Amino acid sequence: MQAYLWDGVLRLQGVSPPPCRRQERRISVQALIVYHSKTGHTKQAAEDVARGLEGEGVGCVLKPAGEPGTDLVRGLDIDDFDIVLAGSPTYGNRLYRLPARPVERFMNSLSPGGLKGKTCGAFTVNAGRGGGALVGAMEGLLKKLGGKVVSGGPVVKAGAPLSLYKGPDASVEDVRKCEEFGKKVALAARG
Ligand SMILES: Cc1cc2nc3c(=O)[nH]c(=O)nc-3n(C[C@H](O)[C@H](O)[C@H](O)COP(=O)(O)O)c2cc1C
Repeated sequence: MQAYLWDGVLRLQGVSPPPCRRQERRISVQALIVYHSKTGHTKQAAEDVARGLEGEGVGCVLKPAGEPGTDLVRGLDIDDFDIVLAGSPTYGNRLYRLPARPVERFMNSLSPGGLKGKTCGAFTVNAGRGGGALVGAMEGLLKKLGGKVVSGGPVVKAGAPLSLYKGPDASVEDVRKCEEFGKKVALAARG
């Protein structure tokens, strides 16, 4: 209130309020979607989730998790985002407890409590086995980092076992599931 009064006084005197005070107010909700994708299906799912978020007016940044040797999503400050989502193919050899290594490294790169105050969620794509367990495990990791998790993230069926070739795309229903999840996350972030 005081700030507004002060702005009014300055305006009466023909002086503009300092621009930094205007820029401080970031009103739009921003989402970061970090994913790993070898044959493109998880990238597609990330885009489908983003469409749902954007439909609710949320700005989205989609980033592949770091290549081997790098642990972070480069050039981004996690504090710029209200929503953080993680997407990974299901890799059964990890017994459905961990996402693909680049996504795991991204999560490990965050400081304890690094997701505090952020709305979070997870999704996976697979050829048909283990997705529910992996999404549950990823949600647990996000919670451990302090995130407010929207549980029950989508499990999309697409691709071939072991990704030896690209495989079939997601069904229309699974695409819709991703969009709906994006919408649900956007609404949760608004409170
Ligand atoms: C090493 C490896 C292990 C996999 N394990 C499973 C699995 O346990 N269950 C399953 O349904 N699909 C499994 N897949 C298939 C992938 O999850 C599926 O092809 C997915 O669509 C790949 O995602 P991407 O196109 O984003 O890379 C595996 C693929 C690879 C490469």
